[in-house]
Amino acid sequence: MDFSQVKLPPIMDMNADTITENTIAMNSGNPDLRSKYVLERLVHHLHDFARETRLSTAEWSQGIQFLTAVGQICTDVRQEFILLSDVLGLSLLVDAIDHPKPAASTEGTVLGPFHTHEAELVTPGTQISKDENGEPLLVICTVKDTNGRPIDDVMVDIWETDSGGFYDVQHADKDGPDGRCAMRSGEDGVFWFKAIKPVSYPIPHDGPVGKFLMGVHRHPYRPAHMHFMFDKPGFDKLTTAVYDRIDPYITSDAVFGVKDSLVVDFLPLDAATAAQHLTEEEQKNLSAWSLLKYDFVLVSEKEAAGLRDANSLAALEALGKRMKVYNGLPVPDVD
Ligand SMILES: [Fe+2]
Repeated sequence: MDFSQVKLPPIMDMNADTITENTIAMNSGNPDLRSKYVLERLVHHLHDFARETRLSTAEWSQGIQFLTAVGQICTDVRQEFILLSDVLGLSLLVDAIDHPKPAASTEGTVLGPFHTHEAELVTPGTQISKDENGEPLLVICTVKDTNGRPIDDVMVDIWETDSGGFYDVQHADKDGPDGRCAMRSGEDGVFWFKAIKPVSYPIPHDGPVGKFLMGVHRHPYRPAHMHFMFDKPGFDKLTTAVYDRIDPYITSDAVFGVKDSLVVDFLPLDAATAAQHLTEEEQKNLSAWSLLKYDFVLVSEKEAAGLRDANSLAALEALGKRMKVYNGLPVPDVD
């Protein structure tokens, strides 16, 4: 690119009052309507943040050092930026905006940093945890559409920690995937498996995000939960989790993932259900087992997109902005 030929609007007189419009003008050649809009609003809010807080150079430097530390601790299996987004409530907010759910469907929640693509595809009834210290759990679920019809052949990803509160990827000596699997729903929409009862665990807090939590007097714990992700063409992808009602951290999740509709009871496993799903050997230890039942409801892609567009335009109209939907996302309506 010949930089001398680049046409940019003239900018002059940089001061606290003009820097924002000058910066936005310099970025205005961006040919993509959506990224141009997002960048414009980012600069606007970033500058307003500095103006409103009267940000000092020392504080600006502290912020840069913090973000640098967040980046430096990231590895292939440690995603500190997702953790930062989670503890600031941004992950939950973005999921709620991008995957709106009608009342009759299952709500989404944070993905978290521990989903992998390593899970083995297993058949119904598989025990997904190798942890012998965990309390055994039978999980029986259905997946349906908003009209109550079972959905078959949905790819379901499931992941949970071991009994010590660690995901497999957090063990340096791990031997293949553990506490996670992928499975497909049957013709009746049912999928079921054996696992261990989830436990509460702290998010990794030996890095900059942990220091931040300590600094604002927050604990790093997540209430006991099990993650689920649902994928089938034609349906809005659902990333969610279910949470143990009696967990001590149920009302103070470090990453804001808990929603009332996702709180569940782990019940004692009854003999009749055990007889249908457990081996004779497993049934000898019936009293140790718990049962989790949950019915998931997926929204069609079309319904989710319609709801997302309507929510976006209504929210922006309330802010006095005239917008249109472009490639499924709002941009200024300047025509
Ligand atoms: Fe988790």
